[in-house]
Amino acid sequence: MGESQTTIIGSIATIMTLVTMMVAIAPYTCRAMINNNHQNQLHPVILIPGAGGNQLEARLTDEYKGTSWLCNRFYPVKKDDGGWFRLWFDIGVLLAPLTECFAERMTLYYDLEADDYRNAPGVETRVSGFGSVQSLRYLDPSFKHITSYMEPLIKSIQDLGYKDSENLFGAPYDFRYGLASEGHPSDVGSTFLQNLKEFVENASNANGGIPVILVSHSLGGLFALQLLNRNPLSWREQYIKHFIALSAPWGGTVDEMLTFASGNALGVPLVNPLLVRNEQRSSESNLWLMPRQKNFPLETPLVVTPNSAYSSFDISRFLQDIGFEEGVHPYETRIQPLVEKLVAPGVPITCIVGNGVPTAETLYYGDEGFDKQPKIIYGDGDGTVNIASLLALEDEWKEEKNQTLKVIKLAGISHTSILKDDKALAQIINEIVVINSNISSSLVSSL
Ligand SMILES: *[C@@H]1O[C@H](CO)[C@@H](O)[C@H](O)[C@H]1NC(C)=O
Ligand SMILES: *[C@@H]1O[C@H](CO)[C@@H](O)[C@H](O)[C@H]1NC(C)=O
Ligand SMILES: *[C@@H]1O[C@H](CO)[C@@H](O)[C@H](O)[C@H]1NC(C)=O
Repeated sequence: MGESQTTIIGSIATIMTLVTMMVAIAPYTCRAMINNNHQNQLHPVILIPGAGGNQLEARLTDEYKGTSWLCNRFYPVKKDDGGWFRLWFDIGVLLAPLTECFAERMTLYYDLEADDYRNAPGVETRVSGFGSVQSLRYLDPSFKHITSYMEPLIKSIQDLGYKDSENLFGAPYDFRYGLASEGHPSDVGSTFLQNLKEFVENASNANGGIPVILVSHSLGGLFALQLLNRNPLSWREQYIKHFIALSAPWGGTVDEMLTFASGNALGVPLVNPLLVRNEQRSSESNLWLMPRQKNFPLETPLVVTPNSAYSSFDISRFLQDIGFEEGVHPYETRIQPLVEKLVAPGVPITCIVGNGVPTAETLYYGDEGFDKQPKIIYGDGDGTVNIASLLALEDEWKEEKNQTLKVIKLAGISHTSILKDDKALAQIINEIVVINSNISSSLVSSL
């Protein structure tokens, strides 16, 4: 389905460019009649970022005991009156002693008795700016150039006539937390979904009652699908026009096994991955992104050591062997049942994914163990997410009659360049334009 849809999209690219130009002018002509003609109004867009894609603030209480003198006394330097400072992202964390302070404050703990995750003792966190796209633009506003995140995408959407907090919104969240399978509490993640639900309703109500377009990146797509699945069909039909998922890791990634085993320096050569490994292992949402059995077959080893091999069916044993036994129980009880089935929500979905970028497919560890970075064999994907995971919905829903699913593949586009690259942005914007003009079906059928 994805292949042919992509070809159709490709062959009508010229028409789409014309449409883009027409619609780029349209908002100005619409504005005058917006009050008496809701049909020409733009569908509100809500952006849901990926892991690490929005700012996160923290403050330290008396209960906080840093492991070093530096963390306790001097860092951070800049705080506001209430003691809040930016925990994620602050460029200072790239300096090794500060990396440790950062990592211990970001770390989550699984509380077996409560069956839920919580912050480190003495660390309060909050996500500010819910509703606006402001905190999705740059991770560190003091270093805009190198920490730009959704800024190019936001700018392109605004060029269509969208305005921040009027019909363009952002849904930042505490991306360290995830969601759990039914019957297990997940206070932070569920509160986010509840807020997001209410926010979708508010955004629609503020725009004459027309349904919204959800646009997610990466992990945000997994949250968005849960939002849809956890609300009744009548709600989805009333409030959701379309769901556009960019680079969504539906079936997890091998890259996540690398993160758990050896840490992930986030592409910053100055950072020692072992300094952030504990913190990364503690994140519930990271556990959510372990390779899923349906998309990574039993017979395919993903991690190989001199003594053993691990496929997606061996994640518990893998967690144990890398020295993260604490992860096994939450993984088996909360995560595995959650990812087992991807439920088709019935609202139209477009997945836009990059491919053809070398992506970790098998990790080979030597005698030195997991502290040493492995030799990596690469396969197809977007550089972070394997192709099988990016395309998981096509496979999962091939028998679903009521699910409209379109998949657009962009060769050479990486996991994050999808938010910046001109070719990728043009595709995303075309999709938003087509959804708004509601011409997609008539155009395709007239060809
Ligand atoms: C939705 O709107 C109501 C009424 O204005 C407001 O009280 C509530 O906080 C809003 N919810 C969200 C999540 O923004
Ligand atoms: C598809 O939608 C129709 C009409 O809403 C409904 O009657 C039918 O049960 C749905 N089928 C599936 C497989 O969900
Ligand atoms: C948009 O298209 C759908 C399906 O083609 C149609 O059912 C719906 O009425 C259209 N909406 C508007 C506002 O034209």
